Order: sequence, then structure tokens, then C-alpha cells
Amino acid sequence: MAGELAGPLSHHRRWYPDVVQQVAPPKTFDLGPGYLEPALLPVDLLRQAYADALAEFGSAALSYGPNAGALPLRTLLADRLGPPCTPDHIMVTSGTSHALHLIAAVLFRRGDLVLVEQVGYDLGHAILSDSGLRLRAVPMDASGMVPEALDRELGAAGGSRTFVYLNPTFHNPTGILVPSARRRELIEVASRHEAMIVEDDAYAELALGRSGMPDSMAGLSGYRGVIRLGSFSKSLAPGLRLGWLAADPGTVARIQAHGVFDSGGSPNHLASLAVTTLLMNGSYDWHLNWLRSCLRARRDVLVDTLRAGLGEEFTFDRPGGGFFLWLNAEGGQDEQALLTSARDAGVIVNPGSRFGRTASPGIRLAFSFNSPRRLAAAAHRLAAAWNPTDRTHSCT
Ligand SMILES: Cc1ncc(COP(=O)(O)O)c(C=O)c1O
Repeated sequence: MAGELAGPLSHHRRWYPDVVQQVAPPKTFDLGPGYLEPALLPVDLLRQAYADALAEFGSAALSYGPNAGALPLRTLLADRLGPPCTPDHIMVTSGTSHALHLIAAVLFRRGDLVLVEQVGYDLGHAILSDSGLRLRAVPMDASGMVPEALDRELGAAGGSRTFVYLNPTFHNPTGILVPSARRRELIEVASRHEAMIVEDDAYAELALGRSGMPDSMAGLSGYRGVIRLGSFSKSLAPGLRLGWLAADPGTVARIQAHGVFDSGGSPNHLASLAVTTLLMNGSYDWHLNWLRSCLRARRDVLVDTLRAGLGEEFTFDRPGGGFFLWLNAEGGQDEQALLTSARDAGVIVNPGSRFGRTASPGIRLAFSFNSPRRLAAAAHRLAAAWNPTDRTHSCT
């Protein structure tokens, strides 16, 4: 597998510290980053895709793009999303983060309310609060946001301008896949209160199991009252800064009329055309299959090694997709103590409290950023650090 070719610290292989956002300290296993390790980033595929885009679209690839994004990409995306989605339902964005910022800036005003998951994507929450919105957390259970709790919060909001921000597919940080019935209930509650739902689906293409996927909330609603956000950051490369939003055409028209698009055209036009060629010639789906098999191997080695090494006070499910394994520590352990002993063992993990208020301490382990071999070694170390009576595993 390509991931195995990476050296012990991948930034030695052109992972320049001043060129990427974050580099782990040497000699550590970093299970923090929610993104792909260097060996999973398709350098050669994208080099070819940029060349193909310039050959296919010529100087048009180097001009300003249409406000909503190039039509060939919007057409391909609409086909992938299926009816009733048309190119008019799609707008190209500079990733999901940009789409969240646009929604806050164009559709809402400072002081408006966003209802968010009790435990959720902290950096998404920061985009919304930095845009002047007020955030309120809604309780969750094992199937995602609790509809009765959402109903109560929307009732209490009393007609103030409010929307709901959800990450229902392989949720960051818990890995939860919200089932269809729960999706429908949440849509029903939000629509009764005339509140829009923003469905962050950054991990939607990274299902790792064989069973079918629930329809998106946008699809279930017929693209009425739900804006769906997608990204190529998790399935191709975050450096592309490329994603999309799908919504009813009226909402798309409002967003793309913003002056930033009249002035600058669609974001990352050349990247969007490079990705267009990958979608057109089938390379994207080929790549997705390869990536899923790499992620499956990583997830399985992490789950199996932890299962063998951790005591019963740690509970977790095998995530059905995405990048994250969520560990519940139910034996009265202290979150900070778990973090410190992990760090002393040379493993960096993310504390659950970073993402919201958890009932018992939780830890997020990303399986996207290390090879299977390194994940196994990191899991052995965690088991030894958190379960000192365990003497069955070496700490190599
Ligand atoms: C739930 C979720 N949404 C959005 C993002 C960021 O996506 P993008 O790179 O498209 O801005 C992430 C990345 O960690 C994420 O986990």
C-alpha cells in the first residue's frame, strides 16, 4: 500500500514545516489531525489533472470563472447528487469552511442564532461565532441530535432568525452516521419552525462499509430548507481549497450575487477545472476506491489493536466511515490525565472537551494521518499508557 512507503516522519519527505499548517513534533505519533497523511495525497494524479485542465479548457481555465462556478463541474456534481439537483442548485466554494462563512455573511446577520450539536466540529463552530452568530448546543444521543431537544430550542428561540448546523455523516468527532429516520425527524422539526438546516457533509464519500448509505438531508428534503456542503478536502486534498454547496436555486442565486464573486469570480477556478477532468475521466472514482481501501486498513488496525489492548472501561464502535474513532472513557478517568499519559508515551490525541460537553471523558483518534503500521504502534502505546496492568504488548 502506498501509505507504507512513507518514512517514519512524513515531513522528511517534502512535508515542509513552513508550507503546511501543522507539523507534529519529531518522534511522536500524531493521531490529532483530521486530514490525510502525505502518502494519501495524490500528487501525481493532480499534476496530471492540472495539465489536462489546461489542455482541455485552455485560456478559459486561467480567466475569472462564473460566479457560481464553472458549469461543467456543476453539471457533473448535480449528476452525482441526483434528482432533483440541477446545476442551478450548486455553487462552487473554496471548501466547506468558506461555504459556512458565506452562509453566515450572506444569509444571516450578526446576533442571529445557530443551534449546533452538543459535541461537534469545533473549527466550524468557530467560523460561525467569528462571523458574529450566537451558538447554542443541542443535546445528542447515539443517533445524533435529539429531535425533541431541537424542538424545544427552536421553540425557545421564539421566531428569532435561527438555523441548525449538523454534520450527520461520519460526524467529526464521534464518527456517528445519523440514520434515515432521525434525519427525517430533524428535517420535520426544523421545517415546522421554519429554520434552515446546514448539512455539513465533508465525509459523505468516505463510507468504509458495505451497507447502503442514508440519503442526504438535502435530498430527503428535496433541497427545500436544507443547504448541503461538500468538500474535496477529505477525498482528494485540502490544499485544493475546493468544495461546493447545494441548495434551492433561489438561495444559490442570493449567495453568488455577493460582491466577492462579481469581483473575483468563482474561487479556485483552475483547481475546479482540474477536478472536473478527474470526474469526467473516471479517475476520481478510481481514486476514491483506493482511498477507501487505505482508510479501511487504517481504521481496522486501530480498532483491532485498541480492542486487544484496552480494558472494558474504554468503549468505542468501529466507525462506518470518515476519519475518526471516538473513545469513551467510562471508568471515572480524568481527561487531562489521559492526555498527559498519552503524550508521555509519545502519542498526541484530541480531547473530547475540545468539541463540546461530553457525559464522560471522550478522546478523538484520527486514523487518516498515519500508516497502518504506525497506527498499530500508537495503539499499543496508548493501551500500555492507559491500562498499566496490560503487559501483553510491546511499545515499539
Ligand atoms: C465536519 C467538517 N467540516 C468541514 C471541514 C473543513 O472542510 P474544508 O477543508 O472543505 O474547508 C472539516 C475538516 O476537518 C470537517 O471535519
